[in-house]
Formats: sequence, C-alpha cells, structure tokens
Amino acid sequence: MARVSDPYDMEAWLDRTKLVVCVGAGGVGKTTTAATLALCGALRGRKAVVLTIDPARRLANSLGLKAIGNERTQIDLEGLGLSTSGQLWAMMLDSRSTFDGLIHRVAPDEASRDRILSNHVYRHMADTFAGSQDYMATETLYDLVSSGDFDLVVLDTPPVKNALDFLESPGRLINFMDERVLRWFLSPYDPNAVFGRRLMMGTSAVVFRLLAYVFGRDFLDDLATFFEDFQGLYAGFVERNDAVVALFRDPATSFVTVCAPNHSSLDVATFFQEELARRDLPRGGIVVNQVHVCDGTEHDARAVLGDVAAELAEDVEPKTMSALLARLGMAHTRLRALHVSETELAEQVREAGRGGGFYQEVPRLEGNVHDLEALHEVGRRLLSAAGVL
Ligand SMILES: Nc1ncnc2c1ncn2[C@@H]1O[C@H](COP(=O)(O)OP(=O)(O)OP(=O)(O)O)[C@@H](O)[C@H]1O
Ligand SMILES: [Mg+2]
Repeated sequence: MARVSDPYDMEAWLDRTKLVVCVGAGGVGKTTTAATLALCGALRGRKAVVLTIDPARRLANSLGLKAIGNERTQIDLEGLGLSTSGQLWAMMLDSRSTFDGLIHRVAPDEASRDRILSNHVYRHMADTFAGSQDYMATETLYDLVSSGDFDLVVLDTPPVKNALDFLESPGRLINFMDERVLRWFLSPYDPNAVFGRRLMMGTSAVVFRLLAYVFGRDFLDDLATFFEDFQGLYAGFVERNDAVVALFRDPATSFVTVCAPNHSSLDVATFFQEELARRDLPRGGIVVNQVHVCDGTEHDARAVLGDVAAELAEDVEPKTMSALLARLGMAHTRLRALHVSETELAEQVREAGRGGGFYQEVPRLEGNVHDLEALHEVGRRLLSAAGVL
C-alpha cells in the first residue's frame, strides 16, 4: 500500500482527466477549486470549461467577468501574461432554461415540443425540477461532454446536505416519471387504450369527474395531453440518464473531494469518500483547502527571532524590542498549534480516502480568491507535489 508521503503527480493526473466533479461541504472552496483546475487545464493547453451553479457574481468576480450566463463564455487569459494554446471557458447554470432546452432536444417534433412547453402541468413540473440544481447540473454536463467542444470539463456542485442527492440525481426524473406518475396513471386502465385519454374512460370517469371538480377541467385536459406527449419522451430521458451514469463511471472522470480543515467539512468529506468508494465511482483525490501553514519548529523560530532582533537593534528601543519579540513568538506558537491540530484533523479524511488518488493541501491565502491571478496562485499550490492516499 502506498504511504501518504509518496509523491503524486498532479500535472499528469490533470492531463489524463476529462471530467472533474468537485464535491464537498458549503463554503470550503469547491468553486475556487473547480475554476482553478479549469484554469490549470487551459494553461496546460486544454480547451477547458468550468460549469458552476453558484450565484453568477462570485465566479464572475473570480474570473474577472461582469456576468456569466447560461451561455458558454470564454475567459481572457491575456491578463495573466501567460501565453497558452489552451482556452478557458465558464458557464453558469440556469435551471429553467436548462429544462426547457432538454425538452427541445428530446421532443420528437416541433408540434409536440411547443405543446409541452406551453402545457401548465409541464410548467409546474419544470418549476419543481428547476429548483433541483443538481439534476440540472447533470443535464448540462451531459450536453457539454457530448458536444465534444471541450477536452476538460470541470463541474462545481452545490453544497448538498445529503451527498446522495447529487449522486443519484440523474435517476430522479426517471423515477418520478416512471414510478410515481406513469405507473399510477397506467395501471388501472386498458393497456390498449390511448394513454392520456384513459383518464376519461370507463371506471376512470368517476375519478376524472372528481379530479375535474377539484382542479378544473382545463387543468385535467392539460394533464392528459401532457402524459400523452411525455410518454414519447421517456426513451430519451432513459438514454440520457444511462449516458450520465456511464460518464460518472468513466475512468477519465475524477471526483475531487474538497474540504477545509474543520470538523464539519471533514465529516462531509469523509462521508463522500465512503460513498464514492461504495458506489465504485472514480475518486481523483482530496483537497484540504485553506490550511494554515507553519514550517518552522520551535528551534527555527528562536533563530528567526534572533535575526529580527539583530536586524532592528539599532532602530528599536530594547523595551519595545522585547515586547515585539514576545508577540512574534506567541503568534508563531499559536500558528504552530493550529497547524498541528489541522493536520491531526485531516488524518481522518486521509484514512477514509485510502487508495483513492491524491491528497493535497492548499494554504489559506491572504484575502479572498476573486481574480485570475489569485486563482493562478491557488493553481500553483494545487498542482505542486501531492501525497498519495
Ligand atoms: N485557499 C484559499 N485562500 C483564501 N481564500 C480562499 C481560498 N479558497 C477559497 N477562498 C475563499 O473562500 C470563499 C469560499 O470559497 P468558494 O466560493 O470557492 O467555496 P464553495 O465551496 O464553492 O462555497 P459554496 O458552498 O457556498 O458554493 C471565497 O470567498 C473564496 O475566495
Ligand atoms: Mg460554490
């Protein structure tokens, strides 16, 4: 078994990866990591795109853009002063138009497409699913990957409380269509009858009258038409679902778990490690972001303080000097204690992640990571030598 101290080549990992999915608790740096990995890919000559679901402003700021919409937007890398044959693109998820777009793609013809889009039942269902960003992310992801326009796609994910929500979301619509709705409507009626119209026939007539009384006749007409039309789309949904599941399992896909060195996010990360392993999904590795770095030992610190004292001896009063040195010493002691406790905490997630790729720490930088230069700095740390899990 590999030891934690064995080196892991992050650059080689990124070069062979086609899809990165960044998962983790809220606020730990998923968006930052996702944008950084796409940037690193672009700087290594790939045509990379980052798909984010954060409020536009955040990623927009960190990429130096005013706004990112549902459209793919190319990020200007000239500002970094680095020339690359690669490209960086960003996209922000807009759930409603994603769902409508899905209908555009799977509808067999224009007439049924328009009927569905203007159907009240559809609009209601679209609103329900529009709230489900994780489902929409997988749909958009499928489009991005299958378009063949990019050779590296990086997906940022929402901070879901239950990790399963995200991993299982591709199947959710199918389950909804299949079990909860379609079967319920289909089962009591004549299998040879036209599907939606069955609602108005035979024994269902009583139920229909009751429903019409409760919901109104127009609504039920909409419902019947909706099911007739949606039945034709079912195969398309199943196909896309299978493709997304296959994509998540592809060896060129890497789930990267991002966490911060605190109990709650490490617990979420540990849970992700276990779930990914249980589901046999490809684990890329773990990033512990925003760690406090403290290289010096007690002994080094004394030497450094001695150097400071010698350097400032002429300009600083002895009394002020000793106060200054005492404070510096204290700050160093605190930082070391923090560093040691963070390292101990991270041991838990390292253990859970054994055999699952790389282990990388990224230091907490001064100030937020809100521009390309800062992302580039994070990228340097991210791609530096890492450990093996
Ligand atoms: N290594 C770092 N050093 C300093 N600041 C950082 C670092 N990584 C991220 N940040 C800052 O921390 C904040 C949260 O980061 P980010 O938005 O990437 O987290 P997130 O996991 O995507 O959050 P959410 O779950 O809310 O989407 C941002 O302001 C970002 O600039
Ligand atoms: Mg985010």
